[in-house]
Amino acid sequence: MKTPRHFLQFKDLSRAEFDYLFTRTRAIKQQFKAYQKYWPLEDRTLVMIFEKASTRTRLSFEAGMHQLGGAAIYLNTRDSQLGRGEPVEDAAEVISRMSDAVMIRTFEQSIVERFAAHSRVPVINGLTNEYHPCQIMADIFTYIEQRGPIQGKTVAWIGDSNNMCNTWLQAAELLDFNVHVSTPPGYEVEPERAGLYGTDHFEQFADPLEAARGADLVTTDVWTSMGFEAENETRIKAFKDWQVDAEMMQVADPQAVFMHCLPAHRGEEVAAEVIDGPQSVVWDEAENRLHTQKALLEFLILGKV
Ligand code: CP
Ligand code: NVA
Repeated sequence: MKTPRHFLQFKDLSRAEFDYLFTRTRAIKQQFKAYQKYWPLEDRTLVMIFEKASTRTRLSFEAGMHQLGGAAIYLNTRDSQLGRGEPVEDAAEVISRMSDAVMIRTFEQSIVERFAAHSRVPVINGLTNEYHPCQIMADIFTYIEQRGPIQGKTVAWIGDSNNMCNTWLQAAELLDFNVHVSTPPGYEVEPERAGLYGTDHFEQFADPLEAARGADLVTTDVWTSMGFEAENETRIKAFKDWQVDAEMMQVADPQAVFMHCLPAHRGEEVAAEVIDGPQSVVWDEAENRLHTQKALLEFLILGKV
């Protein structure tokens, strides 16, 4: 049996493969917008396992599979045996005999890795505590679509050094751009947890305004990620000066775009005038989850077409 390719973290694919995926995304998006039927995954099935809530990830994978002629099955921990202690390895053996790909949103990265080690089919990380590779793939595609190549550009990450931040940092190493990170004290990037080879592609700033200065893309995310709700009160106090506001966008490059993976909390990590303002590309960013993941599914299930 051939070992399947997985997408568990951003660096699981090469730079050349991302170039290919972005080219396929453009074609697939264009075809979809022109109402052209494209069913390369007819009779193929994606199983989606959710241990955390989701709107965009579920919708984009489920709609994406249907649009490619296939089917998607939704499982969650509340009403499957996964929530009742069935070993991840056993679940992987069974689920992967009945499907063509599996997408998992869960807690520790080790869970998706254990699943993948026992899976006969490609496994996609739909968000873990550590990474959110599908979102960063969509974000980078959106940047390229709006502004051109991302190589050599500067991304300002303002806020928590969470799954999104870690994945931006991995992407920067792979695709050769820079990330300026500003987190409150005590919430700094941990390069090992982020899975980085070095520190060449990021710089940490105590002052968020300095991180945003001259940036080509300014981005942030919730102060409290799923699974960390117990820390919410402490985080609200610690992060209060790490809001992306108009002043921050003012010091960024005049052509800078604002991104947020959503869901957003206006008045916390982002001011309403920024997310609803002219530099914000958050709706295109959300839509591009659909198109980039269709290219990813096509690639992981069929290989290059
Ligand atoms: N951005 C994102 O992954 O959204 P959902 O949590 O709604 O899937
Ligand atoms: N960092 C957030 C992203 C949600 C899409 C979380 O993990 O909850």
